[in-house]
Amino acid sequence: MEKFLFYLFFIGIAVKAQICPKRCVCQILSPNLATLCAKKGLLFVPPNIDRRTVELRLADNFVTNIKRKDFANMTSLVDLTLSRNTISFITPHAFADLRNLRALHLNSNRLTKITNDMFSGLSNLHHLILNNNQLTLISSTAFDDVFALEELDLSYNNLETIPWDAVEKMVSLHTLSLDHNMIDNIPKGTFSHLHKMTRLDVTSNKLQKLPPDPLFQRAQVLATSGIISPSTFALSFGGNPLHCNCELLWLRRLSREDDLETCASPALLTGRYFWSIPEEEFLCEPPLITRHTHEMRVLEGQRATLRCKARGDPEPAIHWISPEGKLISNATRSLVYDNGTLDILITTVKDTGAFTCIASNPAGEATQTVDLHIIKLPHLLNSTNHIHEPDPGSSDISTSTKSGSNASSSNGDTKISQDKIVVAEATSSTALLKFNFQRNIPGIRMFQIQYNGTYDDTLVYRKSRWEAIPLSQ
Ligand SMILES: *[C@@H]1O[C@H](CO)[C@@H](O)[C@H](O)[C@H]1NC(C)=O
Ligand SMILES: *[C@@H]1O[C@H](CO)[C@@H](O)[C@H](O)[C@H]1NC(C)=O
Ligand SMILES: *[C@@H]1O[C@H](CO)[C@@H](O)[C@H](O)[C@H]1NC(C)=O
Ligand SMILES: *[C@@H]1O[C@H](CO)[C@@H](O)[C@H](O)[C@H]1NC(C)=O
Ligand SMILES: *[C@@H]1O[C@H](CO)[C@@H](O)[C@H](O)[C@H]1NC(C)=O
Ligand SMILES: *[C@@H]1O[C@H](CO)[C@@H](O)[C@H](O)[C@H]1NC(C)=O
Repeated sequence: MEKFLFYLFFIGIAVKAQICPKRCVCQILSPNLATLCAKKGLLFVPPNIDRRTVELRLADNFVTNIKRKDFANMTSLVDLTLSRNTISFITPHAFADLRNLRALHLNSNRLTKITNDMFSGLSNLHHLILNNNQLTLISSTAFDDVFALEELDLSYNNLETIPWDAVEKMVSLHTLSLDHNMIDNIPKGTFSHLHKMTRLDVTSNKLQKLPPDPLFQRAQVLATSGIISPSTFALSFGGNPLHCNCELLWLRRLSREDDLETCASPALLTGRYFWSIPEEEFLCEPPLITRHTHEMRVLEGQRATLRCKARGDPEPAIHWISPEGKLISNATRSLVYDNGTLDILITTVKDTGAFTCIASNPAGEATQTVDLHIIKLPHLLNSTNHIHEPDPGSSDISTSTKSGSNASSSNGDTKISQDKIVVAEATSSTALLKFNFQRNIPGIRMFQIQYNGTYDDTLVYRKSRWEAIPLSQ
């Protein structure tokens, strides 16, 4: 009798060790353990899933969110299916222990965004299936850990863009499904390292053009040389508002007569079948500068805004060249906007000269010059009313280093000792300066503040401030 009781006790332990969540089916197909819980009316991921499971099916349930502990310690898991639930929230790092996971199916759920840490740790993931969610946003670093992907399906969402930088690094990628989204741009060079790509679907997006890419050229070579390769590249791009100008000529040359893509613009080609338009009708229009600032005079230290507008097809890019012939970029003192406006925030005498606006597009370029005159303010050397006229030298707008610059005045201007000017309050972006001298210091007409910006770290510039001068002086 004693022996029999002991035997029962032993069975009890064994059953507990191989526990299977209620309503689920667990298949112990050595060496793999599969936990099958599809269509079981589950409202959450069962807590008592065997941590050694290799395949876990949870599709067609009513799971609304994924918690950190749901898949904790499941280091053997290879295949995880969560399709057709109502998942709208996934806790950061929820899949972090799944270092052997190959396939993650999250299609037909209610995800609206992919946050940075959602897919952290999934360094062996090959298939990431996210179609038919409500995605509007994927954080810029969300795909950093899933660089080993072979298949990425983001179709049927509301995405305007995806982290292209991360996609560029997925060198094993063979299938990228982006159809039925709102993507309006694919950056040039995205596919240049993706030599394994066999399928790209961008059907029904908002693309006006596709970037020419070696990947697509490969497709062309295969087609024209008549080689039927199992790895022939398939590109689907119908249902986009294609702008059929010279930039799409390369695509037209791929000669695939069997598809029904149409052009949305320019007006002459609207609605016509892409593959039936002769190559010579894919035209661009060289830039024409339509409006620009002709001449401008500003007081030293004031802001100067130079404008330049051009039209053409495609829309010309506008660049500015300084009087010294240097390309002007964003810096502490200058801002260049996409609409062609150049803003010199604080002018110096050295900015005087002819600026050049260049409008360019694939069809050509056009230039115009804009003369800028900076009206010099007199600089008082010291209290003897001697007017100091330093050589303005060349403008420092487009240079990143200014030799001889020093926060404590290198132009020989009057230096006011430290204790007469104090910084009363300072924050990261503001400073309150207090001038501790009497109103009537003879000869003082102007304070000049010199400071340097930290945006490009080296540029030193100054702003002049007039002090009201009593009439009696
Ligand atoms: C995962 O493993 C750790 C360490 O063995 C343990 O403390 C933790 O409770 C486990 N978590 C789950 C959900 O099994
Ligand atoms: C310069 O900065 C402005 C304002 O931050 C920005 O709108 C513009 O795109 C920038 N230009 C370039 C060429 O980066
Ligand atoms: C160009 O863009 C800037 C910044 O958005 C704006 O301040 C400026 O008014 C614009 N200029 C023109 C001519 O539209
Ligand atoms: C003012 O300038 C004059 C002429 O350069 C110089 O002789 C004089 O010493 C200066 N005074 C002061 C206080 O710096
Ligand atoms: C800047 O000025 C300070 C104080 O006048 C001086 O000690 C320093 O050597 C100067 N630095 C340069 C690079 O001229
Ligand atoms: C700008 O200011 C910082 C902080 O005072 C200083 O370290 C740096 O040397 C300055 N740069 C120049 C070019 O004067």
